[in-house]
Amino acid sequence: MKWVFLVVVLILLASGLLMGAVVASNWTRNFANQPKLMPGEEPPGGKPLLMPAGTLPRTGGELARTLEQGSRMKNPVTPTPESVARGKPLYAIYCAPCHGPEGAGDGPVGPKFIPATDLRQAATQQKSDGYLAHYIGHGGAIMPAYGEAISVEERWDIVNYVRSLAAR
Ligand code: HEC
Repeated sequence: MKWVFLVVVLILLASGLLMGAVVASNWTRNFANQPKLMPGEEPPGGKPLLMPAGTLPRTGGELARTLEQGSRMKNPVTPTPESVARGKPLYAIYCAPCHGPEGAGDGPVGPKFIPATDLRQAATQQKSDGYLAHYIGHGGAIMPAYGEAISVEERWDIVNYVRSLAAR
């Protein structure tokens, strides 16, 4: 009679697992089953959905670009003393650890990581403003990308500041 007991226990276990799986799979997917628009999909009626007033970001938003395309971007921020002054603290926070306080590539991270480029050198200063701004946002082969931390406007201020470093 022992085996009857075993079979009953096994059947109970198996049906429990099965029911659990059915409930869980439904529960984990039921947020997916709702009326919604997929990106690029036309809403019923074919009219584009308008954003409620005030919900569009005033800044941010950036097209994906390659370094080559980025290099052709024009700097929309005139290098006024105000812009340079806005770039200075940002440079001190985000760039100086590697590129050094004066851009000479002698930041404290260099000896422990990989020495960063001297930003005042001719080869870098001859690059376009767009190139520098793109580099800040997307990083390089080794340099990390700072697009998540530094807004598009701030990047131009930093570029203007980096230019002022070379002029010294
Ligand atoms: C973690 C260290 C690190 C930080 C922080 C960093 N860089 Fe760099 N950067 C590098 C290294 C290393 C290179 C050279 C290798 C490469 O291109 O990835 C470089 C290269 C560059 C270049 C390319 C120079 C050229 O001639 O092509 C620019 C421009 C630049 N950095 C600007 C900046 C600016 C502006 C910041 C601050 C927003 C910054 N970097 C922050 C490490 C860093």
